Amino acid sequence: MKIIHSIEELRTWRATVGSVAFVPTMGNLHAGHMTLIDAARAEAENIVVSIFVNRLQFGQGEDFEVYPRTLEQDAALIAAQGGVDVIFAPDEKVLYPKVIQQYQVEPPAIQDELCGAFRPGHFRGVATVVTKLFNIVQPNVACFGKKDYQQLFVIKSMVEDLNQAVKIVAVDTGRASDGLALSSRNGYLSAEHKREATRIYYHLSRMKAAIEAGDRDYERLSAETTNDLLARGWVNVDYVEMRNALSLKPAAVSDHQLVILIAARLGHTRLIDNIEIAL
Ligand code: PAJ
Repeated sequence: MKIIHSIEELRTWRATVGSVAFVPTMGNLHAGHMTLIDAARAEAENIVVSIFVNRLQFGQGEDFEVYPRTLEQDAALIAAQGGVDVIFAPDEKVLYPKVIQQYQVEPPAIQDELCGAFRPGHFRGVATVVTKLFNIVQPNVACFGKKDYQQLFVIKSMVEDLNQAVKIVAVDTGRASDGLALSSRNGYLSAEHKREATRIYYHLSRMKAAIEAGDRDYERLSAETTNDLLARGWVNVDYVEMRNALSLKPAAVSDHQLVILIAARLGHTRLIDNIEIAL
């Protein structure tokens, strides 16, 4: 397993190998990331995992400075799970040698909805860094988690719209046994908040069961969730929304593939999760 920090070295390696499946991450890896690596194994002869905390996708007052940087621990976890061919871990100066990234990838209107409404510029930062990483790694396949459903949607539509030659594979959300979606940001939670955080998956499951049973009163279902979380002391409920799983447009009563998405803040930690429904 090589750990590569420079673009030149990565390109030299890339020129000598066959197909590549790519897993972009910001590190502080957990079992959820490992499911992406497992999915990548089935897709190509070689696997590249990138670890890069991308300043461009963090807003003012967000956790860029304190985001855990744990390269050694990440490499050990990957090695313990069977390893990958390359960990690409560039320094910030390598990906952003100029103070400002001059050319950026501007996603369409979806970037201002859902999480985008609360994190201006976030999806532009994601689309830009993923495009740069695709240009460097030149993967045949790239794996993304459904945990970040809107991110997956932005990447899929970007690849299609810009004719990027990468097959995007969507991987189911890895959860703890109590349902909590695995996330690097769970590390910010106290033990008590970690237990309380499972309330999101409880509500996703509750709303899914209601919809499967024929309930189409999305507004009421969503308000019940918001009110319960606020009553339990959650600081903010950014959104609880039913959307079409394919278009991410607001769900219509006639839709067969839905996704319920939640973003809410517990203490200082913003948590997101979602659940798909096929009717
Ligand atoms: P990061 O949050 O590190 O996530 C890297 C990848 O792991 C993403 O595709 C994310 O959806 C996936 N992932 C995270 N938690 C998961 C879980 N519980 N189950 C399954 N997959 C999970 O997402 C990013 O980094 C960045 O935005 C990035 C795409 C690397 C661009 O900077």
